[in-house]
Amino acid sequence: MIKEIYDRRSIRKFRQEPVPRDLLEGVLQAGIAAPSSKNRQPWKFVVVSGTAKKGMLQQMQKGLLREVSEKAVLPRSREHIHGAEYTLKIMEEAPVIVFIVDTLAGDLSATLDTEERIAEICNVQSIGAAIENMSLAAVDMGLGSLWIGDIFFAYEELNTWLAADGVMVAALAIGYPAEQPPARPRKDFSALVDWRN
Ligand SMILES: Cc1cc2nc3c(=O)[nH]c(=O)nc-3n(C[C@H](O)[C@H](O)[C@H](O)COP(=O)(O)O)c2cc1C
Repeated sequence: MIKEIYDRRSIRKFRQEPVPRDLLEGVLQAGIAAPSSKNRQPWKFVVVSGTAKKGMLQQMQKGLLREVSEKAVLPRSREHIHGAEYTLKIMEEAPVIVFIVDTLAGDLSATLDTEERIAEICNVQSIGAAIENMSLAAVDMGLGSLWIGDIFFAYEELNTWLAADGVMVAALAIGYPAEQPPARPRKDFSALVDWRN
């Protein structure tokens, strides 16, 4: 897996070739194998492909249009809207979009007490581990993926469309890569690690 860790890239160009069901199941099984806080396994997965993508993309588009209007719910994030429009194009091109749902989270605007916040932080870490497992399994199978947070620009719309047993926390586009991007820069190792002997 060390090879897959370093070979993984965010893929933003996909081939128009369907992903076989058994490979997708392998990717999802790798996600489910992730550790989770108190083994709560606070995740569910909605796999969107084929004609089902159309309705989902319409919802994403609807959210983005709202965010450039005076009805924006994320006005301070407006500088990232162009990036999100690009993400929408990638979602159009990718053969599969997996939505990862947190089955234990409340609404985004819910007020949490300290213990609820800690549980939520731990659940989100668990979900992050599942998504990373999925990204690495995808590399192992010759697939590429893009972890997508721009779905929050259409949070209400996509959550309603998903009608899943929980709230959406991320999406992962999956397909055969049509690009081989070089490794993106990382912060300097020595600035990140504090050794205390
Ligand atoms: C939580 C999260 C959300 C992300 N959301 C998006 C996104 O919406 N659109 C996008 O193009 N990339 C998105 N990315 C990909 C990052 O931009 C990418 O991981 C980073 O630039 C490093 O590049 P690399 O993944 O190729 O190493 C996201 C990554 C993470 C972990």
